[in-house]
Amino acid sequence: MFQTTGALDKPLQPKEIKHSSFAQDIIKGLSATHKYLDAKYFYDTKGDALFQKIMQCNEYYLTDCEMEILANKKEQIVTAILAHFQSFDLIELGAGDATKSIHLLSELLQQGADYTYYPIDISHNVIAHLEEKLPSLLPNIKMHGLHGEYATMLDNPTLSNDRPKVILFLGANIGNSTVEEALAFCRNLKKNLRKGDLLLIGFDLRKDPHIILNAYNDSKGYTKAFNLNLLQRINHELNANFQINNFEHYPIYNPQTGSCKSYLISKVRQEVILKEIDFTILLDAHEAIFMEISQKYSPEEILRLAKQSGFKETNQFLDQNKWFQDSLWMVE
Ligand code: TRP
Repeated sequence: MFQTTGALDKPLQPKEIKHSSFAQDIIKGLSATHKYLDAKYFYDTKGDALFQKIMQCNEYYLTDCEMEILANKKEQIVTAILAHFQSFDLIELGAGDATKSIHLLSELLQQGADYTYYPIDISHNVIAHLEEKLPSLLPNIKMHGLHGEYATMLDNPTLSNDRPKVILFLGANIGNSTVEEALAFCRNLKKNLRKGDLLLIGFDLRKDPHIILNAYNDSKGYTKAFNLNLLQRINHELNANFQINNFEHYPIYNPQTGSCKSYLISKVRQEVILKEIDFTILLDAHEAIFMEISQKYSPEEILRLAKQSGFKETNQFLDQNKWFQDSLWMVE
Protein backbone atom coordinates (compact mmCIF):
# COMPACT_ATOMS: atom_id res chain seq x y z
CA MET A 1 0.00 0.00 0.00
CA PHE A 2 1.15 3.48 -0.75
CA GLN A 3 0.79 6.34 1.65
CA THR A 4 -0.99 9.42 0.45
CA THR A 5 1.04 12.49 1.19
CA GLY A 6 0.32 16.17 0.94
CA ALA A 7 -2.15 18.66 2.31
CA LEU A 8 -4.01 16.28 4.59
CA ASP A 9 -0.90 15.08 6.39
CA LYS A 10 0.22 18.54 7.39
CA PRO A 11 -1.33 20.90 9.90
CA LEU A 12 -3.88 23.01 8.10
CA GLN A 13 -2.28 26.22 6.80
CA PRO A 14 -4.40 29.37 6.39
CA LYS A 15 -3.93 29.08 2.61
CA GLU A 16 -5.30 25.56 2.66
CA ILE A 17 -8.39 26.46 4.64
CA LYS A 18 -9.35 28.64 1.70
CA HIS A 19 -9.42 25.69 -0.72
CA SER A 20 -12.46 25.66 -2.93
CA SER A 21 -14.98 22.92 -2.29
CA PHE A 22 -13.81 21.41 -5.61
CA ALA A 23 -10.24 21.15 -4.26
CA GLN A 24 -11.47 19.81 -0.92
CA ASP A 25 -13.59 17.13 -2.56
CA ILE A 26 -10.75 16.07 -4.86
CA ILE A 27 -8.35 15.81 -1.91
CA LYS A 28 -10.90 13.79 0.05
CA GLY A 29 -11.58 11.37 -2.82
CA LEU A 30 -7.95 10.84 -3.76
CA SER A 31 -6.91 10.34 -0.12
CA ALA A 32 -9.46 7.59 0.54
CA THR A 33 -8.37 3.96 0.87
CA HIS A 34 -10.47 3.22 -2.19
CA LYS A 35 -9.89 6.31 -4.31
CA TYR A 36 -12.86 8.02 -5.91
CA LEU A 37 -13.83 11.22 -7.67
CA ASP A 38 -17.19 12.90 -7.23
CA ALA A 39 -19.32 12.44 -10.38
CA LYS A 40 -20.88 15.88 -10.05
CA TYR A 41 -17.56 17.33 -11.28
CA PHE A 42 -17.81 15.61 -14.69
CA TYR A 43 -19.84 18.49 -16.05
CA ASP A 44 -17.49 21.34 -16.95
CA THR A 45 -17.82 22.89 -20.43
CA LYS A 46 -15.94 20.05 -22.12
CA GLY A 47 -17.75 17.47 -19.98
CA ASP A 48 -21.14 18.94 -20.95
CA ALA A 49 -20.21 18.60 -24.63
CA LEU A 50 -19.00 15.02 -24.16
CA PHE A 51 -22.18 14.08 -22.33
CA GLN A 52 -24.19 15.44 -25.27
CA LYS A 53 -22.15 13.10 -27.50
CA ILE A 54 -22.80 10.16 -25.15
CA MET A 55 -26.52 10.81 -25.31
CA GLN A 56 -26.33 10.63 -29.12
CA CYS A 57 -24.52 7.27 -29.12
CA ASN A 58 -26.48 4.20 -30.25
CA GLU A 59 -25.40 2.34 -27.13
CA TYR A 60 -26.71 5.00 -24.73
CA TYR A 61 -30.41 4.11 -24.70
CA LEU A 62 -31.52 5.93 -21.53
CA THR A 63 -32.34 9.35 -22.96
CA ASP A 64 -34.22 7.96 -25.98
CA CYS A 65 -36.26 5.62 -23.82
CA GLU A 66 -37.41 8.34 -21.46
CA MET A 67 -38.04 10.74 -24.33
CA GLU A 68 -40.28 8.08 -25.88
CA ILE A 69 -42.23 7.76 -22.62
CA LEU A 70 -42.74 11.52 -22.25
CA ALA A 71 -43.62 12.05 -25.91
CA ASN A 72 -45.98 9.07 -26.24
CA LYS A 73 -47.52 8.96 -22.79
CA LYS A 74 -47.79 12.65 -21.93
CA GLU A 75 -51.61 12.59 -22.02
CA GLN A 76 -51.79 9.69 -19.56
CA ILE A 77 -49.14 11.24 -17.29
CA VAL A 78 -50.86 14.61 -17.20
CA THR A 79 -54.29 13.03 -16.70
CA ALA A 80 -52.87 11.05 -13.77
CA ILE A 81 -51.45 14.24 -12.21
CA LEU A 82 -54.62 16.28 -12.73
CA ALA A 83 -56.71 13.54 -11.12
CA HIS A 84 -55.10 14.73 -7.86
CA PHE A 85 -55.28 18.54 -8.26
CA GLN A 86 -55.54 21.21 -10.97
CA SER A 87 -53.56 23.95 -9.31
CA PHE A 88 -50.01 23.35 -8.05
CA ASP A 89 -46.30 24.21 -8.06
CA LEU A 90 -44.27 22.09 -10.50
CA ILE A 91 -40.67 21.79 -9.32
CA GLU A 92 -38.06 20.13 -11.51
CA LEU A 93 -34.85 18.95 -9.82
CA GLY A 94 -31.88 19.19 -12.20
CA ALA A 95 -33.91 20.66 -15.07
CA GLY A 96 -31.10 20.77 -17.66
CA ASP A 97 -32.38 21.98 -21.00
CA ALA A 98 -35.92 20.70 -20.21
CA THR A 99 -36.15 18.91 -23.60
CA LYS A 100 -37.93 16.05 -21.85
CA SER A 101 -40.13 17.99 -19.45
CA ILE A 102 -41.32 20.36 -22.19
CA HIS A 103 -43.66 17.58 -23.35
CA LEU A 104 -45.31 17.65 -19.94
CA LEU A 105 -45.25 21.44 -19.62
CA SER A 106 -47.12 21.88 -22.88
CA GLU A 107 -49.56 19.03 -22.25
CA LEU A 108 -50.36 20.46 -18.81
CA LEU A 109 -51.23 23.81 -20.41
CA GLN A 110 -53.27 21.98 -23.04
CA GLN A 111 -55.30 20.20 -20.36
CA GLY A 112 -55.90 23.47 -18.49
CA ALA A 113 -53.67 22.97 -15.45
CA ASP A 114 -52.90 26.04 -13.34
CA TYR A 115 -49.25 25.66 -12.40
CA THR A 116 -46.04 27.59 -11.86
CA TYR A 117 -42.91 25.84 -13.13
CA TYR A 118 -39.82 26.08 -10.90
CA PRO A 119 -36.82 24.55 -12.69
CA ILE A 120 -33.90 24.06 -10.27
CA ASP A 121 -30.40 23.56 -11.60
CA ILE A 122 -26.89 23.88 -10.28
CA SER A 123 -25.89 25.77 -13.42
CA HIS A 124 -26.66 29.52 -13.75
CA ASN A 125 -26.43 29.16 -17.53
CA VAL A 126 -29.05 26.46 -17.64
CA ILE A 127 -31.55 28.57 -15.69
CA ALA A 128 -30.87 31.72 -17.71
CA HIS A 129 -31.29 29.77 -20.93
CA LEU A 130 -34.59 28.22 -19.79
CA GLU A 131 -36.00 31.58 -18.70
CA GLU A 132 -35.30 32.90 -22.15
CA LYS A 133 -36.37 29.87 -24.19
CA LEU A 134 -39.48 28.52 -22.47
CA PRO A 135 -41.75 31.61 -22.61
CA SER A 136 -41.18 31.84 -26.36
CA LEU A 137 -42.10 28.16 -26.83
CA LEU A 138 -44.97 28.18 -24.33
CA PRO A 139 -46.28 31.77 -24.19
CA ASN A 140 -48.71 31.08 -21.32
CA ILE A 141 -46.22 29.48 -18.98
CA LYS A 142 -45.72 30.88 -15.49
CA MET A 143 -42.19 30.10 -14.42
CA HIS A 144 -39.50 31.06 -11.93
CA GLY A 145 -36.02 29.55 -12.29
CA LEU A 146 -34.06 28.74 -9.13
CA HIS A 147 -30.33 28.29 -9.09
CA GLY A 148 -28.65 25.96 -6.61
CA GLU A 149 -28.07 22.39 -5.49
CA TYR A 150 -31.45 20.74 -5.59
CA ALA A 151 -30.87 18.73 -2.43
CA THR A 152 -31.20 21.91 -0.39
CA MET A 153 -33.50 23.94 -2.62
CA LEU A 154 -36.82 22.65 -1.35
CA ASP A 155 -36.31 24.86 1.71
CA ASN A 156 -36.32 27.89 -0.58
CA PRO A 157 -38.78 30.52 0.73
CA THR A 158 -40.26 30.89 -2.77
CA LEU A 159 -41.58 27.36 -2.42
CA SER A 160 -42.95 27.62 1.12
CA ASN A 161 -46.60 28.25 0.32
CA ASP A 162 -49.75 26.19 0.67
CA ARG A 163 -50.02 25.00 -2.91
CA PRO A 164 -49.73 21.29 -3.64
CA LYS A 165 -46.38 20.30 -5.10
CA VAL A 166 -45.49 18.10 -8.05
CA ILE A 167 -41.79 17.22 -8.19
CA LEU A 168 -40.10 16.10 -11.42
CA PHE A 169 -36.93 14.05 -10.98
CA LEU A 170 -36.31 12.67 -14.45
CA GLY A 171 -33.35 11.12 -16.24
CA ALA A 172 -31.49 8.42 -14.43
CA ASN A 173 -30.66 10.95 -11.70
CA ILE A 174 -31.76 8.74 -8.83
CA GLY A 175 -29.49 6.01 -10.26
CA ASN A 176 -26.43 8.19 -9.65
CA SER A 177 -26.72 7.17 -6.00
CA THR A 178 -26.39 3.81 -4.32
CA VAL A 179 -29.64 2.16 -3.21
CA GLU A 180 -29.00 3.32 0.38
CA GLU A 181 -28.32 6.90 -0.69
CA ALA A 182 -31.41 6.85 -2.92
CA LEU A 183 -33.52 5.77 0.05
CA ALA A 184 -32.09 8.58 2.19
CA PHE A 185 -32.73 11.06 -0.64
CA CYS A 186 -36.35 9.98 -1.12
CA ARG A 187 -37.01 10.07 2.62
CA ASN A 188 -35.61 13.58 2.81
CA LEU A 189 -37.66 14.67 -0.18
CA LYS A 190 -40.77 13.30 1.50
CA LYS A 191 -40.00 15.29 4.66
CA ASN A 192 -40.11 18.48 2.57
CA LEU A 193 -43.51 17.61 1.08
CA ARG A 194 -47.05 17.24 2.36
CA LYS A 195 -49.52 14.40 2.21
CA GLY A 196 -50.91 14.04 -1.30
CA ASP A 197 -47.99 15.82 -3.05
CA LEU A 198 -46.67 14.02 -6.14
CA LEU A 199 -43.28 12.94 -7.50
CA LEU A 200 -42.62 11.82 -11.08
CA ILE A 201 -39.32 9.95 -10.91
CA GLY A 202 -37.25 8.15 -13.59
CA PHE A 203 -35.53 4.76 -13.20
CA ASP A 204 -33.36 2.82 -15.60
CA LEU A 205 -34.63 -0.75 -15.41
CA ARG A 206 -32.68 -4.01 -15.17
CA LYS A 207 -32.29 -5.62 -18.58
CA ASP A 208 -29.83 -7.70 -20.64
CA PRO A 209 -26.49 -7.03 -18.89
CA HIS A 210 -24.70 -6.56 -22.23
CA ILE A 211 -27.03 -3.72 -23.20
CA ILE A 212 -26.38 -2.00 -19.87
CA LEU A 213 -22.62 -2.41 -19.96
CA ASN A 214 -22.38 -1.15 -23.56
CA ALA A 215 -24.19 2.05 -22.57
CA TYR A 216 -21.17 2.85 -20.37
CA ASN A 217 -18.59 1.63 -22.87
CA ASP A 218 -19.60 3.12 -26.21
CA SER A 219 -17.59 2.12 -29.27
CA LYS A 220 -16.70 5.71 -30.18
CA GLY A 221 -15.02 6.18 -26.81
CA TYR A 222 -17.03 9.19 -25.64
CA THR A 223 -17.68 7.67 -22.22
CA LYS A 224 -13.99 6.95 -21.82
CA ALA A 225 -13.18 10.53 -22.81
CA PHE A 226 -15.86 11.79 -20.40
CA ASN A 227 -14.20 9.96 -17.51
CA LEU A 228 -10.69 11.05 -18.50
CA ASN A 229 -11.92 14.62 -18.86
CA LEU A 230 -12.29 14.85 -15.10
CA LEU A 231 -8.56 14.15 -14.73
CA GLN A 232 -7.95 16.87 -17.34
CA ARG A 233 -10.16 19.23 -15.38
CA ILE A 234 -8.07 18.57 -12.28
CA ASN A 235 -4.95 19.20 -14.38
CA HIS A 236 -6.32 22.61 -15.44
CA GLU A 237 -7.96 23.77 -12.26
CA LEU A 238 -5.48 22.45 -9.71
CA ASN A 239 -2.35 22.59 -11.84
CA ALA A 240 -1.94 18.82 -11.74
CA ASN A 241 -0.02 16.43 -13.97
CA PHE A 242 -2.27 13.42 -14.56
CA GLN A 243 -0.92 11.58 -17.63
CA ILE A 244 -4.16 10.67 -19.37
CA ASN A 245 -2.57 7.81 -21.34
CA ASN A 246 -1.63 6.13 -18.09
CA PHE A 247 -5.29 5.37 -17.29
CA GLU A 248 -7.75 2.86 -18.65
CA HIS A 249 -11.55 3.18 -18.58
CA TYR A 250 -13.07 0.12 -16.86
CA PRO A 251 -16.87 -0.15 -16.51
CA ILE A 252 -18.50 -3.15 -14.83
CA TYR A 253 -22.12 -4.19 -14.40
CA ASN A 254 -23.15 -6.53 -11.60
CA PRO A 255 -26.41 -8.21 -12.61
CA GLN A 256 -27.12 -9.32 -9.04
CA THR A 257 -26.89 -5.94 -7.35
CA GLY A 258 -27.99 -3.96 -10.45
CA SER A 259 -25.13 -1.50 -10.11
CA CYS A 260 -23.08 -0.34 -13.08
CA LYS A 261 -19.82 1.23 -11.95
CA SER A 262 -17.02 2.95 -13.86
CA TYR A 263 -13.41 3.05 -12.77
CA LEU A 264 -10.23 4.53 -14.13
CA ILE A 265 -7.39 2.05 -13.69
CA SER A 266 -3.85 3.24 -13.27
CA LYS A 267 -1.84 1.29 -15.86
CA VAL A 268 1.44 1.88 -14.05
CA ARG A 269 2.74 2.80 -10.65
CA GLN A 270 2.76 6.59 -10.78
CA GLU A 271 2.94 9.77 -8.77
CA VAL A 272 0.64 12.68 -9.52
CA ILE A 273 1.22 16.18 -8.20
CA LEU A 274 -1.58 18.72 -7.73
CA LYS A 275 0.65 21.78 -7.52
CA GLU A 276 -2.04 24.34 -6.83
CA ILE A 277 -2.90 22.69 -3.51
CA ASP A 278 0.50 21.19 -2.75
CA PHE A 279 -0.83 17.64 -2.78
CA THR A 280 0.77 14.47 -4.08
CA ILE A 281 -0.83 11.11 -4.65
CA LEU A 282 0.70 7.75 -5.42
CA LEU A 283 -1.14 5.25 -7.52
CA ASP A 284 -0.13 1.63 -7.62
CA ALA A 285 -0.12 -0.25 -10.93
CA HIS A 286 -3.71 -1.54 -11.47
CA GLU A 287 -5.09 0.66 -8.71
CA ALA A 288 -8.61 1.92 -9.41
CA ILE A 289 -10.25 5.30 -9.03
CA PHE A 290 -14.02 4.86 -8.69
CA MET A 291 -15.73 7.39 -10.97
CA GLU A 292 -19.47 6.81 -11.03
CA ILE A 293 -22.36 4.51 -10.28
CA SER A 294 -25.53 4.02 -12.27
CA GLN A 295 -27.96 1.85 -10.33
CA LYS A 296 -30.53 -0.20 -12.23
CA TYR A 297 -33.87 -1.17 -10.67
CA SER A 298 -36.56 -3.78 -11.18
CA PRO A 299 -40.20 -2.62 -10.96
CA GLU A 300 -40.41 -4.46 -7.61
CA GLU A 301 -37.34 -2.65 -6.27
CA ILE A 302 -38.93 0.66 -7.29
CA LEU A 303 -42.13 -0.23 -5.40
CA ARG A 304 -40.05 -1.10 -2.35
CA LEU A 305 -38.14 2.18 -2.51
CA ALA A 306 -41.44 4.11 -2.71
CA LYS A 307 -42.86 2.27 0.25
CA GLN A 308 -39.75 2.53 2.41
CA SER A 309 -39.54 6.27 1.87
CA GLY A 310 -43.19 7.05 2.60
CA PHE A 311 -44.64 7.25 -0.90
CA LYS A 312 -47.27 5.20 -2.70
CA GLU A 313 -46.70 4.37 -6.36
CA THR A 314 -49.90 5.29 -8.21
CA ASN A 315 -48.81 4.86 -11.86
CA GLN A 316 -45.98 3.45 -13.96
CA PHE A 317 -45.11 4.66 -17.44
CA LEU A 318 -42.72 2.55 -19.54
CA ASP A 319 -41.24 2.69 -23.05
CA GLN A 320 -42.07 -0.07 -25.57
CA ASN A 321 -38.95 -2.09 -24.75
CA LYS A 322 -39.63 -1.83 -21.01
CA TRP A 323 -36.11 -0.53 -20.48
CA PHE A 324 -36.99 2.63 -18.55
CA GLN A 325 -39.73 3.60 -16.12
CA ASP A 326 -41.16 6.90 -14.99
CA SER A 327 -43.14 6.32 -11.81
CA LEU A 328 -45.75 8.60 -10.29
CA TRP A 329 -45.54 8.54 -6.50
CA MET A 330 -47.80 10.20 -3.96
CA VAL A 331 -46.83 11.17 -0.41
CA GLU A 332 -48.78 8.94 1.97
N1 TRP B 1 -24.86 8.81 -14.62
C1 TRP B 1 -25.65 8.98 -15.82
C2 TRP B 1 -26.17 7.62 -16.29
O1 TRP B 1 -26.36 6.74 -15.53
C3 TRP B 1 -24.88 9.72 -16.87
C4 TRP B 1 -23.64 9.05 -17.38
C5 TRP B 1 -23.56 8.23 -18.44
C6 TRP B 1 -22.32 9.15 -16.86
N2 TRP B 1 -22.28 7.81 -18.64
C7 TRP B 1 -21.51 8.33 -17.68
C8 TRP B 1 -21.77 9.83 -15.78
C9 TRP B 1 -20.13 8.20 -17.43
C10 TRP B 1 -20.40 9.69 -15.55
C11 TRP B 1 -19.60 8.87 -16.36
O2 TRP B 1 -26.47 7.35 -17.41
